[in-house]
Formats: sequence, C-alpha cells, structure tokens
Amino acid sequence: MNAEHASNTSSLPEMPATSTEARKQHAEISERIRSFNEAYYVNDEPLVPDAEYDALFNRLIELESHYPTLKKNSPTQEVGAAPAEGFTKVKHARPMLSLGNAFSREDIVDFLARIRRFLNLTAHSPVEVVGEPKIDGLSLSLRYEGRKLVTAATRGDGAEGEDVTANVAHIDDIPKTLPDDAPDVVEIRGEVYMARSAFHKLNETQAETGGKTFANPRNAAAGSLRQLDPSISAKRPLRFFAYSFGELSESLAQTQWDFLQKVDGWGFVINPLTRRLNDADDIMTFYDELGNQRPDLDYDIDGIVYKVNDFELQLRLGFVSRSPRWAIAHKFPAEQARTRLNAIDIQVGRTGALTPVARLEPVTVGGVVVSNATLHNRDEIERLGVRVGDMVVIQRAGDVIPQVVEVILDERPEGTEEYQFPDECPKCHSHAMREEGEAVTRCTGGLICPAQAVERLKHFVSRNAFDIDGMGAKNIEAFFELGWVKSPGDIFRLETDHNEAIRKLEGWGDKSATKLFDGINERRTIGLDRFIYALGIRQIGQATAKLLARHYGSVTEWRSAIINANQADSDALRELINIDQIGPGVAKDLIEFMAEDHNLAVLDDLQEVLTITDVEAPSVSDSPVSGKTVVFTGKLELFSRNEAKVKAESLGAKVAGSVSAKTDYLVAGPGAGSKLKKAEELGVTVLDEQGWLDLIAAE
Ligand code: IVH
Repeated sequence: MNAEHASNTSSLPEMPATSTEARKQHAEISERIRSFNEAYYVNDEPLVPDAEYDALFNRLIELESHYPTLKKNSPTQEVGAAPAEGFTKVKHARPMLSLGNAFSREDIVDFLARIRRFLNLTAHSPVEVVGEPKIDGLSLSLRYEGRKLVTAATRGDGAEGEDVTANVAHIDDIPKTLPDDAPDVVEIRGEVYMARSAFHKLNETQAETGGKTFANPRNAAAGSLRQLDPSISAKRPLRFFAYSFGELSESLAQTQWDFLQKVDGWGFVINPLTRRLNDADDIMTFYDELGNQRPDLDYDIDGIVYKVNDFELQLRLGFVSRSPRWAIAHKFPAEQARTRLNAIDIQVGRTGALTPVARLEPVTVGGVVVSNATLHNRDEIERLGVRVGDMVVIQRAGDVIPQVVEVILDERPEGTEEYQFPDECPKCHSHAMREEGEAVTRCTGGLICPAQAVERLKHFVSRNAFDIDGMGAKNIEAFFELGWVKSPGDIFRLETDHNEAIRKLEGWGDKSATKLFDGINERRTIGLDRFIYALGIRQIGQATAKLLARHYGSVTEWRSAIINANQADSDALRELINIDQIGPGVAKDLIEFMAEDHNLAVLDDLQEVLTITDVEAPSVSDSPVSGKTVVFTGKLELFSRNEAKVKAESLGAKVAGSVSAKTDYLVAGPGAGSKLKKAEELGVTVLDEQGWLDLIAAE
C-alpha cells in the first residue's frame, strides 16, 4: 500500500492482543464492511474511501490468519452484497468473483512470484499476462442461448444478481445475437459504464428538469442500469466493454488474448488499451503509461487488471476464497487536486450527527468538478490542522465523496485562525455533545432541531424507504419550510390539506401536483420492513429492519413487543435479543425509540393513514422446519454458519442466537458447550450437522 493510501486510513484500530479482543474487533469490522457493501452495491452510495475500505478488509484477513475460525461467517468469504428488491433475481451459472488488489511494484513482484511458486516454475520463467484497464463501472453477465441474448444480470452478491435484460436493449455495444460459429451457450462478462462526457450531459439535463443528479459516472451508470422502468434506461447513454466469460458450452480460445480477439469479431467492444506483458518491468511501464493517459480518457478507470494469458495455467492456478490466483487489480492512487478551502460548514444529519463539510474553490478532479469535500468529524479537522483560507489537497477515489487529505502549510495565507468546532448545533443551537468512545459530535436538540427533522423526512421518502416518486430532498425541504410537512404523516395529508396551494407554487402546476399526489398515494400501502427502515431509528438499517419485520410479522406485534421489551428480565426483551444478529446495542436503540411518546404519536399517525402489510415467512409451510426456531452452535464442519442460516430461513425457520424454551432445534457441531447444556436441560431437540441435513431433506 502506498503512502497516500496509508495516510488516509485513520480509523484502523490497533491490532488486538488477545483472542477475545480479536473476535470483538473482527465482529465490529465485519459489521462495518457489511454496511459499506450494502451502501456500495445495493444503494450505489459508497460510504468510505476505497483506501479505508481496503485497510479494514485487510485487517479482517490479517485477523483471520491468526485466528482461522473467524473466517466462518466473515465478509472475506462473501462477495459484495445481496441484490436489491424490485428486480427478478438471477442465479449466475458461474459465480461472479472479485479481484485481490496490488498497490506497488512489490505487490506485483509478489503476485508473479506466487504464480511461479504455485506452478512450480523457476524464478525467471516467463509468465505472460494480459493487462486490461480496470473500468470503473458495474460488472454485467450476458447469457446467450442459441446465439440469442436471453439474460443480462448484474453481479449482485456474486452468486445471484438482478435481471436487467430489458434495460440493456438499447446498449449498442451489446450484440443481441451472436454469429453462427458461436457455441450454443455463451456467457460474456464485462463492464457497463458511462462516458465522462455523457455523464456531464446527463447531469445537466437532470438539473434542468429537476431530476436526480449523480456524483460520478459510476453512480450514473448504476442508477441508469438499475432502473425499474426500462424506458428510462433506454435514454441513458450506457456502454459496455467485454473482458471475461462465465458458462460456455464449448471453449472459445486457449488464451485471454485470443478470447478477446474472438469476441471483438462477434461485435463486442474490447478495450483498445489492452496489452500483453511479460514481466514486472513491462507491467510497471504499462502502469505508468496508462496512469499518464488516465486524465484524458473519456471514461473512469481505477487501475489495471492483469490476467495470466494461458487458460490452462489459469485452470491450474484456480481460486483463493473469493478471487482468482491468476489475476490481480493494480490500483491507481486516488486522483488529487489542489484548491482553496473557502469555508467549513456543519451539516446536521437525521440522528443529529454534525459533519463538517469543506466548501472549496471548484476544481476538476478526474473529470468531475468538485466544490465540496467531507472533513468527517472534529478529530479529522484536528489531525489535518486545516483552517479556513488554506490551500488543500483533495482527493476523489473513484466513487466516493471527495475528501481533504492534506493542508499545504507553505501556502497558508496571513491571518488565518485555528478552526473551532462548534459546541452547539448550527441550526437549533442546542448543545452539541460527543459521547465517550464515539467519533461523532451530536446535536442534542432531538425533536426541536429542524435540521434533524428535515433529514429524517428525507430519509423517510428515500429510495429504500417509502421511495415516493416526485418527493425528493428538495421538495421535502420546501414543504417543511412552508410548514406543510412537519412529520411523516403530513406527507399523506398534502393532497387534502394543501392541494390548491401546491398547484399554485412557483414551478408547480396541475400536472406536477397530480403526479406528486399519485406518487404519494401509490405508497399508502407499504411492507412492514420498509416501514421500520423508514422511521430512521438509530442503527436500524435495511437488513435489521427486514429481520425485525420477519420476526414480528405485523406492525402491531412489533410495536407491542418492543414496548414490552422495555422491562428488564422480560420475555419480550429476551426474545428481541435472541433474534440472530440483533445485539444489545440495537435492542437499546429500538427500545429507547419506542419509549418516547412523540415517536409513538408519529406511529399512531402513520398507522391511521397507511396500510402496513404483514411480512410472512416464505410460503414454505410444507417444509419440516417452517415456523421452527433453530440455534446453531459449536464448530460447524459440513457448512458455514452463514450458509446454514440462509438455508434455514429460506425454509421458513427462524434462526436465534441463544437457546430458550422457544427453541425447537439446537444444531450442535463439535465443541458445543453451554448452549448444548442448556438445550439438554430444557429438553430441546439436539441434532448434529448430518441430523439437521437429514431433517431439512425430509419431505
Ligand atoms: S475480471 C474473476 N477485468 O473489477 C475476475 N474485472 O474487482 C473477475 N473490472 O467486479 C473480474 N475492469 O466489475 C475484470 N478488465 C477487467 C475489469 C474488471 C473492471 C471490475 C469488475 C469486477 C471488479 C473486480
């Protein structure tokens, strides 16, 4: 990892000294990585710079090398995140994997040495690789049967993606039929991307028409490809480079190079900058050349992928967990630029978090004009020593929010002053507090803070929550300002209470107002999981909301269960904490939310205006474990805990973290301890792994 990357990874905790600490740190980092994955792959909104993500991910690998049992259930064994709702899921015939990273010449030399060692070659025998620009877009798998395109699928979690076939119909770079000499089954993989020039144009039109603008070409490509309405996708200028394959009924070539030439002949576009390279020197020359060309390309690249050219060698080299031994991604450093920092503003989030934002003299970084950058929190400002008026170096790593990485002290103007982080909320002037052990400073204004209220409302209507068509952040702000929408329930009364007034607002008319009301009315019926997520309770992300919805089934059940859980030593509390993946921290936030009268009033109000649909366990009532509660314990050998859990849930079972009188089955692997003892005391049926497999296989 180079110095630039290292200087950016301020949040990496110290290496733990004991196995208990290692386990704790592993669990914490895993949770963060999972939420980053979800934000990146599902919501197209990266939360952290690549370098920080990589550092955390590498820490997981490091911990696992000391404590191999941590591998089970670890994000290092998974690729990406689960697919979003709304598209039909497609199981990939061959998984779509990802690549290990290299940052330096040393990493490249290691990569080549590993390959030679594995293949038992001498230190200097040639290993030819193909170097391909690593396009910063989204990977896509195209399946042709009988030479016709039948499915286009996104990567999703690597095993299962989303069916976006209708959305690629207008991508000219994707042939819809293959020539007669193509085999019967062919899967071509590659990257969908948007050219920088097209991205700028799209953003201009979006801004003019009041549509959503995108932070960068990757997000624009993702947002365009993953449109539920294919007619919108059709209007977006997407492109595609082919670089790999999945299932094939017949082999196409013996080398990667020949494969690329072949599909080029079939009408796919292959990247013209692709080269054959023979050793580390060749590789480094190509890396420097491409790095120099990078700012002038009309598409974003974030590195180079090297692949062993010979397929026979690729086959022998195989895979290590989630990535091939025969390929690696050589990352470019994040793109940087210098500019003046004009001001530091404090943004207030929906949970009251105060985030300092640098307002910059606009500057182009990697083809995108940047005028804001995040300063993360108070510590980061102190670490950088940044002052208003400073010249700063900013960095945009592919697809994350730009950040300030360095202050150019030599160019500090006269008369600047040390920045004082506010000790009150800039919006409601309540005291701002930093809790022990937390990096964030929060406004304590709660309900009286208008900034928090607006952010909560924005969250309520956002894509993964109510997803109300026509009700974006701007409209929420405007309606809040006018006093028409103060709490979520007000949204559903706009049509009755402010109908005429909205039609008369500047920029509005009958058509746009009707469209907005239609959008709102369409969401009067909502699933319990989305409903819970939309409330914006601290720590309750989409995944947790889903768990809660599935566990409690209905809004009434969920409400009363959480209220009852506010009693220490109650069954309701035990049940809540017993839900697998719900820890005491999450339970506490939920209980605190439900203990507030004003929150209950919001719930009452919403239940009045909405139909909140129950979530049913998957309709597998004929499965032998449907409706049963299962606990897995001990060292599982036949399957990973995660696989067991996913399987059990798909069969309609609930998976709990600890044994209680409600447990139906305890599946105990070798080394099971206290849970096994407790199950025996309570008379719970205990199965070994094979017993469990037999049970779920039974008709
Ligand atoms: S090969 C098993 N080649 O990078 C190998 N990937 O980190 C699979 N990417 O998900 C990928 N350009 O989205 C490959 N020429 C290229 C690529 C490329 C961009 C992306 C792709 C993949 C990610 C891997």
